[in-house]
Amino acid sequence: MDLVSRDHEVLWHPYAPVRASPLFGVVDASGVRLTLEDGRTVVDGMSSWWAAIHGYRHPVLDAALKAQVDRFSHVMFGGLTHAPAVELGELLVSITDPSLTRVFFADSGSVAVEVALKMAVQASGRPRFLTVRGGYHGDTSGVMSVTDPDGMHGLFQGHVVEQVFVSRPRPLYDEECTPADLEEIAESLAQQDFAALVIEPVVQGAGGMRWYSPSYLRGVVELARAHGVLVVFDEIATGFGRTGELWGADHAGVAPDIMCIGKALTGGTMTMGAVLCTDEVAARVEGNGGAFMHGPTFMANPLACAVAKASTELLLSQDWRATVTALSQGLRTGLAPAWDLPGVADVRVLGGIGVVELEQPCDMAELQPRLVDEGAWVRPFGKLVYVMTPYISTAEDVEVITGAIVRSLR
Ligand SMILES: Cc1ncc(COP(=O)(O)O)c(C=O)c1O
Repeated sequence: MDLVSRDHEVLWHPYAPVRASPLFGVVDASGVRLTLEDGRTVVDGMSSWWAAIHGYRHPVLDAALKAQVDRFSHVMFGGLTHAPAVELGELLVSITDPSLTRVFFADSGSVAVEVALKMAVQASGRPRFLTVRGGYHGDTSGVMSVTDPDGMHGLFQGHVVEQVFVSRPRPLYDEECTPADLEEIAESLAQQDFAALVIEPVVQGAGGMRWYSPSYLRGVVELARAHGVLVVFDEIATGFGRTGELWGADHAGVAPDIMCIGKALTGGTMTMGAVLCTDEVAARVEGNGGAFMHGPTFMANPLACAVAKASTELLLSQDWRATVTALSQGLRTGLAPAWDLPGVADVRVLGGIGVVELEQPCDMAELQPRLVDEGAWVRPFGKLVYVMTPYISTAEDVEVITGAIVRSLR
């Protein structure tokens, strides 16, 4: 029996019914290419959901993992520490805003946001969060509460704690934020005390693949600070250069009190997230309980830490800005013909993210196999056909992906 048939008997896939369809078996992944069970190869346009920025089986990442396997794969982090964790912590502190001085490791992106929420509650002594519509922060229960309730998590209303949502950021990336754009958030801040404002800086990812004005971000941060409310930036999708800046926040020149990272942290090899915070947040957390009340079994897993350090150093050792700029140009040129297709509402590119937004939700059962037939791994959702190609993609790879999108939609 082939992989897909066996899978259909026992497994469940993300956001899918029990027998996910269409489904493709992967037997090999190398560079930007995935080899499917039927022998076809496709160029990966997704970086495995924003993570595999250096592609698959990168020798530097594989060497870091293998070297750490030969030392030890895991030890508990309660009462013990190790070089991979310390070195990664030092590196992360050195490449984020100088005000962010302390790192707490988490198991995944969602758990990193859970940790950030708990940190903000413990630091502030307040239970509620303020956020914007159109956001996505993961799938666990606490995190669903700050994810757009009209999005994927509508079914869990009643289970999920109610937070306060204001409208999605209105001004687009190239527009200036006006006082009217900030009115709603100013009113909410005036009405009640919040533990924190939670927001994806500049790019809203899974909640719509939409980029908003850096001046809006500056505006909301200023308002939150004026009301003594902590600011949490979710950089899980935007981090590590994806938007053309190292961090999404760098577009606006602002820093949060608490910052979540994940996805590309380990170059797509291992699950891991991290939460950075200021001295002040750490002191306030300690002041309320003595210790931060969180501690998973696999915290600071040495394999994940070692490969995260290798991936981050590999990124920083290159002219990543030029690489992402070239990706941007390739995506812009390659996706431009989509403007002429019927049913296309928008085509947009920022950094290494390209989006074709349709007027109606796409028919995945039809579109996904067509994209594969065209030689590209692209995973649309709803009205969005989007890509975030690995940074190692050549101009030709980008052409394969964008060409496949345009032809499949046509
Ligand atoms: C902005 C953002 N935050 C959090 C998450 C959750 O990360 P994970 O899927 O690793 O739990 C995601 C995942 O897509 C994300 O895009």
